Amino acid sequence: MDTFNQDEPICRCSGTTSEQIVSLIHQGIQDLDSISRNTGACSGCGGCEFDVEQLIANSIG
Ligand code: FES
Repeated sequence: MDTFNQDEPICRCSGTTSEQIVSLIHQGIQDLDSISRNTGACSGCGGCEFDVEQLIANSIG
């Protein structure tokens, strides 16, 4: 189940896409802090934090 549009960045501040985050998750980088450090996601306005957490939860299963 994927409710995210793959063409739109999940984090508008950093331009990070859900695809990039899912790819990190598959490499074992599965916590918000590490994902944020690797992509810049959640390091701006923080407005994407909930979406990123949901994506992590959905991707880990
Ligand atoms: S949208 Fe991700 S930090 Fe602003």
